[in-house]
Amino acid sequence: MRVLEDDLFPSTPGKVKIERAGTMNRQLHRCFASTSTMFLWALFLVAMTASYLSFQSFVDTSSKYFAASWGGLHWERQIRASAAPRRPPGSAAGAGMSVLVTGAAGFVGTHCSLALRKRGDGVVGIDNFNAYYDPSLKKARKALLSSHGVFVVEGDINDGRLLAKLFDVVPFTHVLHLAAQAGVRYAMENPASYVHSNIAGLVTLLEACKDADPQPAIVWASSSSVYGLNDKVPFSERDRTDQPASLYAATKKAGEEITHTYNHIYGLSITGLRFFTVYGPWGRPDMAYFSFTRNILQGKPITVYRGKDHVDLARDFTYIDDIVKGCLGSLDTAGKSTGTGGKKRGPAPYRIFNLGNTSPVTVPNLVSILEKHLRVKAKKNVVEMPGNGDVPFTHANISLAREQLGYKPTTNLDVGLKKFVKWYLSYYGYTRGSKNFRQ
Ligand SMILES: NC(=O)c1ccc[n+]([C@@H]2O[C@H](COP(=O)([O-])OP(=O)(O)OC[C@H]3O[C@@H](n4cnc5c(N)ncnc54)[C@H](O)[C@@H]3O)[C@@H](O)[C@H]2O)c1
Repeated sequence: MRVLEDDLFPSTPGKVKIERAGTMNRQLHRCFASTSTMFLWALFLVAMTASYLSFQSFVDTSSKYFAASWGGLHWERQIRASAAPRRPPGSAAGAGMSVLVTGAAGFVGTHCSLALRKRGDGVVGIDNFNAYYDPSLKKARKALLSSHGVFVVEGDINDGRLLAKLFDVVPFTHVLHLAAQAGVRYAMENPASYVHSNIAGLVTLLEACKDADPQPAIVWASSSSVYGLNDKVPFSERDRTDQPASLYAATKKAGEEITHTYNHIYGLSITGLRFFTVYGPWGRPDMAYFSFTRNILQGKPITVYRGKDHVDLARDFTYIDDIVKGCLGSLDTAGKSTGTGGKKRGPAPYRIFNLGNTSPVTVPNLVSILEKHLRVKAKKNVVEMPGNGDVPFTHANISLAREQLGYKPTTNLDVGLKKFVKWYLSYYGYTRGSKNFRQ
């Protein structure tokens, strides 16, 4: 205690005081110097740890989305071969295009890629094979594409480096952008996935397209869901689209605005297609016609939603082959993008088309058609539609697409579902009369 007091308070005033104070200052200074050195070291260590951790989390996040390995001479050769048009020389349809198809392992992406390949266009696909629905179905579609000479890169449209590399390797003439987080109800479970793919992914893709030289023309999938709560039917492209009923619809509507901006500022040629409930072989397991088929075959009940006042829900079901014709017609008629080096050189086309079937069918009617083709009676559980983003009906006016794309749907729901059921039974190894179908 005494020592402590002596050290802190000098017994006599004057020099000693000064000396003692100087000593104290020096001690304090040394002490402070060593403390500040320690403090600086500690700070340095904290900074190193923080930057290591943030690097790790960056690596984790990146690898989560961009885990696919790409690059290298062999990879580039595969990309070039897949992108090369193979139309016969002197073909009336011209030299052919090189199309980058996003979401190529998806339902619509697979059909469009095959159709482009079959007529001699070059196609490269990109897909992140996410697990929104069974990725083995996406892998099987990829295998189908590969057997037709279409290479699908496993990667995310948010990976700007990968996109830049693809445009570096191939001067794509067109982009058919179909990658998206689809589904209306899932948006309540995983809203971030819609922002990731439908907003952030779209912008990353548009940035890559605007930087590419030459700039490609872009055809992309919007959705009939942008008509939201509208009740004037049939839905026309001129109708208002500012009352979305789901986050999915809102991201598609945002996509229409975002693409407009890129058209306006950078001269990208844009065609937005509002698909109306697309169905068919290799379809999406999350859609009602698909899950109804699975449940009916397994003897499980199906839930049939009904609108207010017991009104049946209705959809303008559109067969996949008709949608494919609409997509290819859009690619064929898309005018060129006008920009170079990120600068617009003149006005470029901005178009929006409905691609529907023009004859809505109620859900109970859909179930009866499935029962007929499956030769099994459904166990129906009819319930009031919950407020989950679904709209009571859709109905397309397709006169604009008919006029400008020559779009003319030819497959009705009965014929289309017959083809779907045939594919379903064969894909899942179901033989009529036996219960041992695998899934
Ligand atoms: N099928 C329909 O009834 C329908 C109706 C309206 C609009 N659309 C739109 O048409 C397009 C195609 O739909 P679909 O039915 O083929 O759906 P799909 O889910 O089968 O195909 C989309 C594909 O995109 C991939 N993908 C998703 N996010 C990605 C990302 N960030 N990076 C790379 N790949 C990604 C998925 O893995 C999937 O394979 C989508 O844009 C969808 O919103 C479809």
